[in-house]
Parts: sequence; structure tokens; C-alpha cells
Amino acid sequence: MDKEQSCIFENTASLVTHLADWLTARIAACDGRFALALSGGSTPKPLYELLAQPERASRIDWSRVHLFWGDERFVPYDDPQSNYRMARLAMIDHVPIPPGNVHPVPADGTPESAAAAYAETLREYYGSARLEAGRPLFDVNLLGIGDDGHTASLFPGAPQVEDTRDWTVAVVGVKPEPRISLTLPALDSAAAVVFLAAGDKKRTAVSRARAHDPGVPSGRVRPQGELLWYLDRDAAGE
Ligand code: 6PG
Repeated sequence: MDKEQSCIFENTASLVTHLADWLTARIAACDGRFALALSGGSTPKPLYELLAQPERASRIDWSRVHLFWGDERFVPYDDPQSNYRMARLAMIDHVPIPPGNVHPVPADGTPESAAAAYAETLREYYGSARLEAGRPLFDVNLLGIGDDGHTASLFPGAPQVEDTRDWTVAVVGVKPEPRISLTLPALDSAAAVVFLAAGDKKRTAVSRARAHDPGVPSGRVRPQGELLWYLDRDAAGE
């Protein structure tokens, strides 16, 4: 199996249908817990809605699925900006996932304390304070990509991109709202990273990321396992 693969689709509907099928099969093929890191932003919303449709949701053993977030805006959980809120309304509220399997980034305290608390949540789930090569934290890590090539909340030129020590970081002063993001080592600790991108606005960023251009954070994601690109033709530049 080639470690890096691109899947290019006519449109977003086809992209999310195939990705939902792939994810469902991936969960079924895994016995025991399945750690899925969700991306924020708008692109993944139709994927989450599709997974929540009854005939699809019934094909997933939600009791084994644990949901995490690759990044979060430091806003209340009911804020329209919240990545947790988007996933909750699109999927979580409609599927039989045990509440204890949903691990949102804390929205209280300070961005720094929330990042530290989230790292503790991840370490507790993982069972060790050190990420081990060959034992990924996530089974699947879904990532979006910004027009500027950011991913999660790792923005081009930001110091947090260079953090190879922590699992999470607070990102303050880059966007209007403070963010909490997984660092590259945590994002890379995945059996599979799936980038999903659609629309021609993403074309340049996707091209640089697929070329592993170190000038864009998305180009520096190098998972332990597979790296999959789920793109529509516009984002793929076809
Ligand atoms: C966020 C995301 C971010 C997102 C990209 C793409 O919190 O905004 O995690 O990394 O994936 O900005 O966003 P769109 O899917 O809305 O284009």
C-alpha cells in the first residue's frame, strides 16, 4: 500500500460519500477503540452529516469510536465559531456515541490552560506521556487546509509550527479568536491522516502541501501511517 495516495472527485458530494465509506470500513476493520480526530472549518460538515444519516450511522459501532479535535477556537461550546458545536449539531447529537467517548477541547480557563488540559486528555487516552513511533495516537486524523496552507490551527510562520515538544499549543493573536491546536508531532501520530479539501481557492495551498513544501504547515504533516488526499477536481487543480 503506497503510504501517500490522492483520491480526486468530481464534487464535494462524491468526495464525502467515498470518504464516509472509507471511514466506515476503517472503523469496522479495527477491533477495539478507534480514535478519530475531527477537523473544524466548513469542508467536513457534509461528511459529518452523512455519517449521521441513520442507514450509515447504523453501520458504525459508535461504542468503540472516540472523537477528538485537531484544533478548536477558544470560544464557548455554543458559539457559532466552535468546531465542537459544528460536529455536535451535524453528527454527535444524532448518533449513539457514548458521551464519555467525545473529548472536546476545554472552553474554560485560558487558552494556555485549555491546551494543557487537552494534552492531559490525550495522554490519558493514549496511556503514555511520550508518543511512540509505531503506536499512533489516532487511528484516523481528518485535516482541512486553509487557503494559506495552514492546517488545524498551525499557521504559516507561526512559532507553534516548530513546537516538537508539546502535544497541544495555544495560538493567540493570529486569528481574531484564540485557538488551541495539536502540534505537528501529535498530528503525525496517526495510522492515517486524511486531508480533505474542495474548491479552487484551495488549489495553490493543496499543490504546495502535496509537494511537502515546508513553507506551509500542511506540507509538513508526515504521519506515521498513510497520508491520503481527498480532493475535488478544483482543489486538485485538474
Ligand atoms: C479550523 C480548522 C482549519 C480548517 C481550514 C479549512 O478550525 O478552522 O481546523 O484548519 O480546516 O481553515 O477550513 P474550511 O474547511 O472552512 O475551508
